[in-house]
Amino acid sequence: MRIKPFQKRYTVPGDKSISHRAVLFGAIAKGKTYIDGFLHGEDCLSTVSCLRQLGVDIQMENESSLVIYGQGVEGLQSPLKPLDVGNSGTTIRLMLGILAGTKVSAVLVGDDSIARRPMSRVVEPLRLMGAQIEGREHGRFTPLTVQGSRLSGTHYNSPIASAQVKSALLLAGLQAEGKTVIRETIHSRNHTEMMLPGFGVEVITNGLEVMVPGKQSLIGTHVKVPGDLSSAAFLWAAALMVPGSRMTVEDVGINPTRTGILDVFVQMGATVEIEQTGVWCNEPIGNVTVYGDDLKGVEIGGTLIPRLIDEIPILAVIAAQANGRTIIRDASELKVKETNRITTTVMELQKIGVNISETEDGMVIEGGNEIQGGMCSSHGDHRIGMALAIAGLAARDGVRVNGAEAIKVSFPSFESIITQLSV
Ligand code: S3P
Repeated sequence: MRIKPFQKRYTVPGDKSISHRAVLFGAIAKGKTYIDGFLHGEDCLSTVSCLRQLGVDIQMENESSLVIYGQGVEGLQSPLKPLDVGNSGTTIRLMLGILAGTKVSAVLVGDDSIARRPMSRVVEPLRLMGAQIEGREHGRFTPLTVQGSRLSGTHYNSPIASAQVKSALLLAGLQAEGKTVIRETIHSRNHTEMMLPGFGVEVITNGLEVMVPGKQSLIGTHVKVPGDLSSAAFLWAAALMVPGSRMTVEDVGINPTRTGILDVFVQMGATVEIEQTGVWCNEPIGNVTVYGDDLKGVEIGGTLIPRLIDEIPILAVIAAQANGRTIIRDASELKVKETNRITTTVMELQKIGVNISETEDGMVIEGGNEIQGGMCSSHGDHRIGMALAIAGLAARDGVRVNGAEAIKVSFPSFESIITQLSV
């Protein structure tokens, strides 16, 4: 059922990438770390529960404020049971980087989606530093066992633009002997590099290279988490799907390594108004308003892709309504997200009447036709579930999303906001 045009302002929950980092860094710092705006979503709660199993004292003052009583990496203890990261790739990959250089031994497991996701991208370079990590299929998949050991710094050319890989190596590098340098081919999100200096750590960035000297300790601090641009993207998309609407998201992170979707909105002919209102812990934040009718299809690829990798499912939905063809290239990384997001996006949008097809490294959408609607599935993937729900706002017959509970992973208040838009 198509909904009526709206003009709304919202804040969204805290950034998922930044929330994970804040609690992980606080846990290995010495002294108290306060976090405000922490994302109380399932992924970040998995990080908290793994850290508690490692003996870290984390107190929740309320849903979005935490205090961590850090005792440094030396304070971490071997857990009695496997650490369960749930659905969270960031938790397991960054945790491997942290545990590799400690005295801890631990087993790491996750859900069925995690069991299918490649871990060799972090396991192999960590082994080059001296890490002792074993696991299914020679450590390519969970369950993984890490036996903390002495590490030496490395110079690693990362073949993929992945902030999880970069962050895991930087965290291992902090405990290693000598310096660690990571060189990327394309910039991935830089939240780790932005946050570590606040914990008293030296990080030097030079173009596509990031360096940390070894043997550094972190000191507790205060982190204020910006709203998650990747959650805000669904609200802006709602405004673009319902012509005549306008959506402002306040206090949202606008780090340039994340704002690719806003550039694409502009390329499609939408209006994007960005008012920067501050900088929280090195991260620019602002109020961002999006509106626009009569959008047109776009061709995207290359260095833009890592800047909007998590927004591609919702971009496909907007493209379905834009006039003309949209082509998304160079996005093979989507195949190893919570689901194979090329396949799940294409399969589910086809079910509700979108003319979309899969390519080797992306998808092609023929836009401009009415979305019919019907039954579809999130496949247990939060971003697929939200993208389909937004498609429903403009669909002739509405959309019913099975497996919508997955949305709790990153945006627990999504359903209530969408319900408010629909009345
Ligand atoms: C994340 C990095 C990205 C992103 C994921 C969160 C992070 O993954 O897709 O949702 O917090 O570092 P990659 O690093 O694998 O690209």
